[in-house]
Amino acid sequence: MKTKRRVVTAVTRRRDYPGPRPRKSAIVGPPKTAPARRPAASAAGPGRDPIPAVDGVRAAAVDLSVDLAPGRPGTLVLRNPVLVASGTFGYGIEYGEVVDVEALGAICCKGTTLKPRAGNPPPRVTETPAGMLNSIGLQNPGVDGVVERYAPLWAGWQVPVIVNVAGESIEEYVAVVRRLDGVPGIAGIELNISCPNVGKGGIQFAVDPEGAGSVTAAVRRVTDLPLMVKLSPNVADVRVIARAIEEAGADAISAINTLSGIAIDRPNRRPFLGNVYGGLSGPAIKPVALRVVYEVAQAVRIPVVGIGGIASLEDALEFLYAGAAAVQVGTAIFADPTVPLRIIEGLRAFCAAAGVPAARELVGLALPGGRRRTPPSVQGVEYRP
Ligand SMILES: Cc1cc2nc3c(=O)[nH]c(=O)nc-3n(C[C@H](O)[C@H](O)[C@H](O)COP(=O)(O)O)c2cc1C
Repeated sequence: MKTKRRVVTAVTRRRDYPGPRPRKSAIVGPPKTAPARRPAASAAGPGRDPIPAVDGVRAAAVDLSVDLAPGRPGTLVLRNPVLVASGTFGYGIEYGEVVDVEALGAICCKGTTLKPRAGNPPPRVTETPAGMLNSIGLQNPGVDGVVERYAPLWAGWQVPVIVNVAGESIEEYVAVVRRLDGVPGIAGIELNISCPNVGKGGIQFAVDPEGAGSVTAAVRRVTDLPLMVKLSPNVADVRVIARAIEEAGADAISAINTLSGIAIDRPNRRPFLGNVYGGLSGPAIKPVALRVVYEVAQAVRIPVVGIGGIASLEDALEFLYAGAAAVQVGTAIFADPTVPLRIIEGLRAFCAAAGVPAARELVGLALPGGRRRTPPSVQGVEYRP
């Protein structure tokens, strides 16, 4: 407990994000955190944040709340829009000694399957330029283990826990969700549909609108829990898949899961990972994730939760501007588990200084027309190599 208090204090007292100063009729620029990997605005492309500053708002008065299931009022209203991504924060308990997990917007726990899974053979992770590859293979204690071991603890927490669900058939997804439905401590479901559908020759549910829509609809029929479905970037046109998921009754869409990749063990001239294939995550995938969020936010009306390489307030702001109602932090947690909390406090300070009373006003500012609710762009995907 001692450790927890010390670290949280350090987080809230950090001075490396001073935040923009309130100015009356000026343009507020990005905060001067100057992380090493962020080039100067002129070289980087994205420049100053186009948030007209008005009178500063008291930081404590800034409304960071976000409703991730507006179709089911009051069921998944988060205190802030910063979640932790599935597979990078365990079950929320592991980090309890080093960060104040209750301060998070929500926790997406490790992928949960019907039966316990031991995961893939090692090696299961490797670093890549600006990211990592993992092939954990959904190691987890199975849905009964999650319900018995973790849900009773979650039930006493204020922070909502969203259970990430995986399966190899529609029946398996349905069985897992049936088991989770109505269990105290479970605030919602996130469907990981980047899993092979055994009944369809191993093609992932996520790669065709029919597969994605069917599994979403089947799960929707057996639960009233808020339902978020997670998109894979490994598809030709993500918008048709997002629309199928929305039509099948999802409350929100999260995007993106990892990009498929491999690493080569050069001395031994063979694939490095025990499973050959792994999922690429981290800063390397951020532009892809931003592009997917930008496209999907124009294609659907349900909230979009952005994921992919988010490691700073600036990253989170970019996702909000691209149309994300909230963000999830994943790989960055391995280097520094305090990143999500620093983003929350940074966002509060940013909004206060910019005179933005509610963070949701930042959502979609970079979309055509500058607003989330404008008609979809007719231009669509601009660049397909
Ligand atoms: C080690 C590891 C395990 C993951 N496990 C899961 C999982 O069980 N279910 C899931 O939907 N996504 C899983 N993911 C994907 C992340 O939730 C996230 O979508 C992805 O890593 C991109 O975000 P990031 O670049 O911030 O890490 C995992 C990612 C990593 C790095």
